[in-house]
Amino acid sequence: MKKTLSDKNILLAVTGGIAAYKAAELVRAFKKRGANVKVVMTAAAEGFIPAKTLAILSKEDVLTDESQAATAEVAHVQLARWADALVVAPATANTLAKMANGIADNVLLETILASAAPVKVMAPAMNDQMWANPATARNVNTLISDGFSLVEPDTGFLAEGYEAKGRLAELNTIVSQVEEELNERSAEDEILSHLKGQKVVITAGGTREPIDPVRFLTNRSSGKMGYALAEAARLAGADVTLVASVKRDCNAGIKVRIAESAEAMLSAVQEAMVDADVFISAAAVSDYRLKEPFTDKVKKQGDDDGLTLDLVQNPDILKTVGMAKKPGQIVVGFAAETKDLLENATAKLQKKNADMIVGNDVTKAGAGFDKDTNVVTMVRDGLAPIEAGPASKLAIAKEILKQVADIQEQR
Ligand code: CTP
Repeated sequence: MKKTLSDKNILLAVTGGIAAYKAAELVRAFKKRGANVKVVMTAAAEGFIPAKTLAILSKEDVLTDESQAATAEVAHVQLARWADALVVAPATANTLAKMANGIADNVLLETILASAAPVKVMAPAMNDQMWANPATARNVNTLISDGFSLVEPDTGFLAEGYEAKGRLAELNTIVSQVEEELNERSAEDEILSHLKGQKVVITAGGTREPIDPVRFLTNRSSGKMGYALAEAARLAGADVTLVASVKRDCNAGIKVRIAESAEAMLSAVQEAMVDADVFISAAAVSDYRLKEPFTDKVKKQGDDDGLTLDLVQNPDILKTVGMAKKPGQIVVGFAAETKDLLENATAKLQKKNADMIVGNDVTKAGAGFDKDTNVVTMVRDGLAPIEAGPASKLAIAKEILKQVADIQEQR
């Protein structure tokens, strides 16, 4: 057996369904491939397979509610930190629902909530009706956008005595998925490490163009994609400045500059670009602003009178930065389109002197404004378009940064 998981730390979280007995084989499969395996299980899982069996096979103590109660250490936090991959198998509908909502009322859920493992895989197993229930589908989707990947249950003979979808996937499928994701992660870490120490400037959110002191023109952009890019760049070790029109929660390591209007955003970006290596324009910049915003709140006009606003064009931040690009600087833009994605993205690449345009069809399922996921087509000069997603915006952000690192390498 090839040691494809040599020295990888795998945390297997076992929940209480009939398929829990298969956890024994899963531990063996991971061990055979050279992984270190530790197990955390719920009390319900212990009803299907004794902790002792999994302890002997993994050669490690198993964390249970009972063992946790008897130790002085905060074992679940240590275990959560130790893992390179968290594998929840089998995952019951109940545990998935709690995971999706951040509930931590047993040691397994506490460990999952505390885990920042780079690879997180869930392999559900349950009754077919439970799997088909919209609540389960909703919870699974939430977990996918939180960064979990799904090994779908198989169709087969269920404990209920009939054939349907809900059986735990083949153990080989689960093991291969974990292997594949850990390998991808190592390759990704390697390429993203190129961004370490580089200064990356990112814009985010829909700009707000004042109409009067209480109103503004804006659009549907939430800023989530830009914030995800900032987080991905920070994780890669970059020095990140995020110029955003909206405030969202983010890591304290990211320098956030709030700039609401296109003009304010342009000047914050220009200041940050003086010594920057990379610019990513994820903001949905309003193309127009009021020629002269009202100084006082606009009152309703006479009964039948309309109101005409006089608009002028805003500066194009991406184009301004693209045209003023210094040697070595990489400039990336977005193109949010509702049709002719490739043509429009390619035209924007030329027009704005960008190194890459990330096109997204905002009408596609799983893409667009205020979603937690995205689907993109990355357009680079002279290369075939590169597709990514549907995936979490953080995963898409990493794909974009990988291309940035690749552009730097190609130079
Ligand atoms: N952009 C910008 N400043 C503007 C308008 C757009 O920096 N005033 C940037 C966006 O951040 C994005 C890219 O340009 O990275 C493309 O934006 P988009 O709104 O798709 O295109 P526009 O250039 O506005 O063209 P159009 O509205 O005609 O599609």
